[in-house]
Amino acid sequence: MTIDSKKFPGAYPRTRLRRNRSSDWARRLVREHALSVDDLIWPVFVHEGRNKTTLVASMPGAPRLSIDLVVKAVKEAAALGIPAVALFPVVEPEKKSEKAEESYNPENLVCRTVRAIKQEVPDIGIICDVALDPYTSHGQDGLVIDGDVANDATIDVLCKQALAQAAAGCDVIAPSDMMDGRIGAIRDALDKAGYTQVKLLSYAAKYASAFYGPFRDAVGSKQALGKADKRSYQMDPANSDEALREVALDIAEGADMVMVKPGMPYLDIVRRVKDTFYVPVLAYHVSGEYAMLKAAAANGWVDERAALLETLLGFKRAGASAILTYAALDAARFLLNENEA
Ligand code: PBG
Repeated sequence: MTIDSKKFPGAYPRTRLRRNRSSDWARRLVREHALSVDDLIWPVFVHEGRNKTTLVASMPGAPRLSIDLVVKAVKEAAALGIPAVALFPVVEPEKKSEKAEESYNPENLVCRTVRAIKQEVPDIGIICDVALDPYTSHGQDGLVIDGDVANDATIDVLCKQALAQAAAGCDVIAPSDMMDGRIGAIRDALDKAGYTQVKLLSYAAKYASAFYGPFRDAVGSKQALGKADKRSYQMDPANSDEALREVALDIAEGADMVMVKPGMPYLDIVRRVKDTFYVPVLAYHVSGEYAMLKAAAANGWVDERAALLETLLGFKRAGASAILTYAALDAARFLLNENEA
């Protein structure tokens, strides 16, 4: 590759790039990107019970919490300055069904959690996932009809789910199901019901990834899914142009923000979306990425603090406005201590 001398004038020995790196003050002065607490969204697993915590072996430090403990933890997140949390329910097996009726029950676990948080921590943003996988007996994100995940029939249920969550007080509806056309349908349903200010965060470029494994352990959808996969609706990891088509459609249908998921292996997609559209791009540092970091840190193979902050800064450098990470509380504490030091 040749270097354009107009864009990059100068040559060694007159130019020495190490000069600007020679001391801490100089490095701080020329730094291009920064990570702050404002960039963090904390995903939390909620399950039934009172004062109940259950550990997820593949996700150390990201346990399932009962509603009362979620409220306590969210208070802590708000005190650290984290702008928003994302809720993921662990639905009891007897409430799962072929048609996922529990997904739009106004008294379901997620709706009760939203109301409890809103009452105690009114100023933190609440993001709710829209997809049927926690609620279906087969673990797919949509309704299965004649052996296929039926797009349009699923959208009807997703709209009901979104309305139930909005009625509970959810601020951001985040469809993670990858059905075609669901953003427009959900926007219309929300507007018609008067929820014109409820935001839509579309999981626009969501890939069929091996990195969701620990999440499926946590919410119990792995067993339900069995040997099946989600490749008929989640994107092929080999594709990049297609992500831009997905994002374009979702923006046209009314998405306020778009998500790229997973994160670290897909930072090229974050950058392309950021450069192509004028829309906030969020990225999801997903469960498998978190698990890898935690496992390496637990073995002493990487320094947890340094590796986590470098990872999250990488998301910012790629163009992400915010990052969903199970390590949000740790990251916030590391950042706050850094500022004090
Ligand atoms: C469900 C959903 C998944 C994740 C978020 N929402 C799993 C999946 O699609 O199977 C994964 C999050 C993670 O791995 O951290 N629609």
